[in-house]
Amino acid sequence: MRDIYNRRVDYMRISVTDRCNLRCFYCMPEEGVCKMNHRDVLRYEEIIRVVREGAGLGISRIRLTGGEPLVRPGIVSLVREIRGVEGIEEISLTTNGLLLKDMAANLKHAGLDRVNVSLDSLVPEKYKEITRGGDLKKVLEGICASIEVGLKPVKINVVIMKGINDDEIEDLVKLTRILPISVRFIELMPIGHASQRFKDHYISMDSVMDRIPDLVPDDKVQGGGPAVNYRLPGAMGTVGFIGALSHNFCHRCNRIRLTADGKIKPCLHSDLEVDLRPALREGKGSLGEMLARAIGLKPRRHCMDNEDREEGNRDMYQIGG
Ligand code: 5AD
Ligand code: SF4
Repeated sequence: MRDIYNRRVDYMRISVTDRCNLRCFYCMPEEGVCKMNHRDVLRYEEIIRVVREGAGLGISRIRLTGGEPLVRPGIVSLVREIRGVEGIEEISLTTNGLLLKDMAANLKHAGLDRVNVSLDSLVPEKYKEITRGGDLKKVLEGICASIEVGLKPVKINVVIMKGINDDEIEDLVKLTRILPISVRFIELMPIGHASQRFKDHYISMDSVMDRIPDLVPDDKVQGGGPAVNYRLPGAMGTVGFIGALSHNFCHRCNRIRLTADGKIKPCLHSDLEVDLRPALREGKGSLGEMLARAIGLKPRRHCMDNEDREEGNRDMYQIGG
């Protein structure tokens, strides 16, 4: 379906849980995480109904996110069920990778096409600090397992932060020489919890690119997403840049988001939400119409770069990136 600005919306990101086995400092508070009530979280059967209606409106690609999607029991069966929905051509997953080593093969067999693994440092101690406790070795094993079982492409998401991991840009890029992965640098966005840290740690994609000589443009990377892609000559993998602030890509926005508690967010950066639960649970209104309405409500662009922007009502773990 096209929105009122004539953008084709064919991609739905589904957050299956707000729970996470990490506490990345820019995403979650260390303690006192505000958890959704279990009753509010959509059951898998409800998610499938949304996917079916979405497919009817032209959604052909689904990404599962969280929190951390792999901590929700039964996630492999959900992938299998989504695979069976007519019209869905691609299923992907965004994960912190901690549980991937043991789950990659089952996910692949269930029909998962590809994964994005969030990884902000290659230094074990620093990784542990950023994530407040994560074990880097497990993530690297998860990445290797994903490549081995044939999830393709495997993308690594790196949120680049001044004074924290900007000294690792070259090392992260070097990974693409020896591994068939796409390393994507993401600008820190002032969303929820990250808003307080934003001024200290924001660094623009242009200054990240300036530190990597030798890159040549590569427009063959799949996805149609927000990244601009490059490659080191002769490298196995690619390097992508996602600059939501410095390089606004709203004009090519192709997505809607379903939160774990059943709200459609037409835009990541807006508090606007369409609650699907009345249609799903009480038969109030038509699910298809609600979805179409949510697509119709997509704003033309975000105003994150506006100094007077409003603090959002959700943290990233409650949206799914
Ligand atoms: N800015 C940019 N990226 C973020 N992520 C979480 N919070 C932010 C933020 N404030 C990233 C995670 C993960 C993806 C889902 O979103 O690191 O890779
Ligand atoms: Fe968990 Fe991802 Fe948030 Fe880190 S960024 S705390 S891995 S949801």
